[in-house]
Amino acid sequence: MDQTTAPPLRWGLLGAGRITEGALIPALRAQGAALVAIGCRDAARGQDYAQRHGIPHALSYADLLAREDIDAVYIGLHNSAHLPWTLAALAAGKHVLCEKPLALDAGEVRRMQQAQAASGRLVHEAFMYRYHPQIERLCALVHGGELGELQAMRGAFGFRLDRAQDSRWDPTLGGGALYDVGCYPLSLMRLLTGARPQVHDVRARRGGQGVDVLAHVVLGFGEVLGHFDCGFSLPALDAYFEVIGTRGSARLTHPFLAKGIETELVVRIGETQRTERFAAVDPYRLMVAHFERAVRGHAALRWGLDDALEQAEALDAIFARLQWSEAR
Ligand SMILES: NC(=O)c1ccc[n+]([C@@H]2O[C@H](COP(=O)([O-])OP(=O)(O)OC[C@H]3O[C@@H](n4cnc5c(N)ncnc54)[C@H](OP(=O)(O)O)[C@@H]3O)[C@@H](O)[C@H]2O)c1
Repeated sequence: MDQTTAPPLRWGLLGAGRITEGALIPALRAQGAALVAIGCRDAARGQDYAQRHGIPHALSYADLLAREDIDAVYIGLHNSAHLPWTLAALAAGKHVLCEKPLALDAGEVRRMQQAQAASGRLVHEAFMYRYHPQIERLCALVHGGELGELQAMRGAFGFRLDRAQDSRWDPTLGGGALYDVGCYPLSLMRLLTGARPQVHDVRARRGGQGVDVLAHVVLGFGEVLGHFDCGFSLPALDAYFEVIGTRGSARLTHPFLAKGIETELVVRIGETQRTERFAAVDPYRLMVAHFERAVRGHAALRWGLDDALEQAEALDAIFARLQWSEAR
């Protein structure tokens, strides 16, 4: 049975939160998925959310996982809830699409690997940016040789977090800018080089309830240098990513958040410059489509827990080198 004639995959969503509402529900709907239930800590809020989105059931997380008419769950919870609910979902026989960062450290990913091996289900870290065609094009440019030998990569991802109540401010909930947004340029640097980073330097400003609210990271991927900054104390949304070769460079103007907008890759070779344009797409939908194909056995998951483990190990190494920037 192909994707068009197969019955829709049946989904449960854990957490009646923002990204679920703004990105995943529209992507799943566009993909023709069946949204069976929303899981929410608060029954009344869950009912309201379910009603607004036309989801038949609002349940506790545990009751959602106990349902037999759910094949896959999307975990859109704060970061420290990713491990326990991924393990619970696997134990209940569900496939798992979980938000980034999948885990708070490499040890958590290893626990997921064991649980996954026992369950035979899939776990995918929801780095939706990788499904945008501009990323494949950037990889092709870097590996095709037009830019010469890759020397350096640089990037940024930051925004202004104004909400006083948000798990991102709280270290006990997996808060901080490196987990929230720094993970994206790190992930893209790993994708482009296929290498593990050496961590040269990490500086961060402390804020909120003791998390990194602004961080600068300097890495080495073999001979290739990489640096990025990230934060949620910036005046406004700020993101770019650039690769620099011995012959030329290429810069993405919207590397990470690129849903529904035309995007550009500016390529400079010597004195010449061209702009490659990409039509608006929904990377979340492309991610869901790939995940569903993998669940149905029609494709191998492009990035599994091995990739998530390397990402978590790289983040562990970054946190191990972090120096707070305040004066002593
Ligand atoms: N891929 C992307 O583009 C993208 C964008 C933004 C965020 N994210 C990731 O998505 C996840 C959720 O982010 P979000 O902005 O959507 O979060 P959010 O709306 O603040 O929270 C999501 C859910 O987590 C639970 N939660 C939040 N704070 C909690 C607390 N203090 N105690 C217990 N439960 C709490 C709540 O579940 P209940 O509804 O059950 O109460 C809430 O609805 C994070 O891992 C984040 O890194 C990804």
